[in-house]
Parts: sequence; structure tokens; C-alpha cells
Amino acid sequence: MSEQHGSMIKNPKQLITVIFAAFFIPLIVILLLLIYADSRTKHSSVPNTESTLKIIKPVANLNFVDSTAPKAIKTGEGVYKSVCASCHTSGAAGAPKFEDAAAWTARVSKGYDYLVSSAIKGKNAMPARGGAAPDDVSDYEIARAVVYMVNASGGKLKEPKEPPPVKDTGTEKK
Ligand code: HEC
Repeated sequence: MSEQHGSMIKNPKQLITVIFAAFFIPLIVILLLLIYADSRTKHSSVPNTESTLKIIKPVANLNFVDSTAPKAIKTGEGVYKSVCASCHTSGAAGAPKFEDAAAWTARVSKGYDYLVSSAIKGKNAMPARGGAAPDDVSDYEIARAVVYMVNASGGKLKEPKEPPPVKDTGTEKK
């Protein structure tokens, strides 16, 4: 092999050509590869953006709650279904059941204020606010849920009055 190669180089000019080629051909190949790789990433940059968007979508789509936006007040039914129903539908942990008038009469006779404060503060196996955070469910919304639940269970409570809107100072309260 080396003899064959050696025999191909007959004079210094050929030697220079071979050295030159040995040096520059790989360089050119590398350069071309680089250009190719670069053009590939450029071409795929469009689908890349799309797939990136797809990947970050769950996070990017998160609806960050604007703390300055007026908060929609939940209905009693809404709060009941999202927070209270887990116990009060089945009567779990001895909770008075929804629509079970017998379970509620004695409690209802103690009055609206008592029931609402009991629901806000919690009682025995019932956690305060049924476990909801005060930021998620306001006192007013708890009261509405109590009224909704009690009235569905033979009670006749009046819908609580909406509290005056709290002025937002723009600062977050913890
Ligand atoms: C983790 C289960 C659980 C959840 C969730 C829950 N409760 Fe209760 N609740 C109970 C239990 C248990 C009792 C009975 C407590 C007792 O008298 O010992 C009760 C009792 C009550 C009473 C009667 C309190 C009294 O003093 O007689 C009210 C009113 C009430 N719940 C309202 C609510 C409201 C409104 C929600 C939703 C915001 C809610 N509960 C969510 C378990 C729950």
C-alpha cells in the first residue's frame, strides 16, 4: 500500500499537492459538514418552535390569577360541590347529609350565625371551611354554601348579603 502510494508521488510538486490535499480536504469536509449541520438546525427551527411550544404548553397555558382582577364570587352550590360535597353527600365522618332534613333540624334550630361560624371555624371532624383555604373560599362564600346545603335539607335560611367589595390596595396579603 505505502509502496503504491509512494510510487504515485514522483516529484516534489506532487508531494506538495498531496500534503495540501491531505490538509485541506478534511478541512473542507468539516466545513461542509458544519454548514450542513447549521442549515439543518435552521430548517428545523420552525417545527422546533412548534414542538417547544407544545412541550411548554401546559405551563404556558397556566392561567395565572391576576390578584388585582375582581374575583368572581362563587355560588353556594358551586362551593358545596367543590368543597363540601365530599363529606356532606355521603355523610362521611358523621357529617349531616345533604337533603337529610332529620340530620339538620337540630343544627338549623341553632341559627344561621351559629352554623356559618361552625362551618368557618370547623367542628369536630369537620375542618375549618371544609378544608378550603380562606383565599379560595371567602367567609361569604362559605355562608352561601351553608345556606345552600341547609335549604336543600329542609332549612329556610335567607341568602346572606354580599359584603361590600374590599378595596384592593394592590399589595398581596398573606
Ligand atoms: C372533611 C369532611 C367535611 C367537609 C369537606 C365539610 N364538612 Fe361540614 N361537617 C362535617 C362533619 C363531620 C360535621 C359534623 C360535625 C359535628 O357536629 O360533630 C359537619 C357539620 C357541618 C355543619 C353543621 C355544624 C354544626 O355546628 O352543627 C355545617 C353548617 C357544615 N358542616 C357546613 C359545611 C360546609 C359549608 C362545607 C363546605 C365549605 C363543609 N361543611 C365541608 C364534615 C365535613
